[in-house]
Amino acid sequence: MIFTVAIDGPAAAGKGTISRAVAAHFGFAHLDTGLLYRAVGAKGGDPVEAARNLTEGDLGRDDLRTLEAGQAASRVAVIPEVRAALVTFQRGFARREGGAVLDGRDIGTVICPEAEVKLFVTASAQVRAHRRWLEVGGDEAQVLAEVIERDKRDADRAVSPLKAAEDALVLDTSAMTIDAAVAAAVAEVRRRLAKE
Ligand code: C5P
Repeated sequence: MIFTVAIDGPAAAGKGTISRAVAAHFGFAHLDTGLLYRAVGAKGGDPVEAARNLTEGDLGRDDLRTLEAGQAASRVAVIPEVRAALVTFQRGFARREGGAVLDGRDIGTVICPEAEVKLFVTASAQVRAHRRWLEVGGDEAQVLAEVIERDKRDADRAVSPLKAAEDALVLDTSAMTIDAAVAAAVAEVRRRLAKE
């Protein structure tokens, strides 16, 4: 069975948690596509070459989750050749046998517009910054400033900007528990799977 769940949205909206839970629930493979851009940003040197030669080892680095790595990722993610170099791998993953969940910014709009389920997971910048701050610590105002800066760069870029696909189900998790958000996502996938 080919079945793709595309989960897009801004940083720290809950995409990662929801994606992992949906993948585990249905036994689908999961790809956090942000990791690809983080690995390219962290590699240094020419980002286009880094994207073309990305290896599994690059994705296994333990410094990819930091705020700095997120900023570096969003800077290389504006380069069209970097995005182009990562498309084939992501498309292949999305349409693999057995079902796949991909989370990112452009999965439902560019990577896999034919995805059977599209979710756009969002939350207010304040709520997202607070969640990120609980993970990384430091100065909360600084974390909020970085979240806003990264949102702006992701939404304003010319190629594959962050936006909800027209046929995406929007899930605003600002006032939702993570369990409720996961339950809503699982219900949507189940509803669509019943039609297969
Ligand atoms: O999701 P995450 O915070 O790990 O993504 C890091 C950065 O990578 C994002 O801010 C965005 O600029 C970029 N990205 C992207 N397209 C994706 C996933 C991530 O442009 N599909």
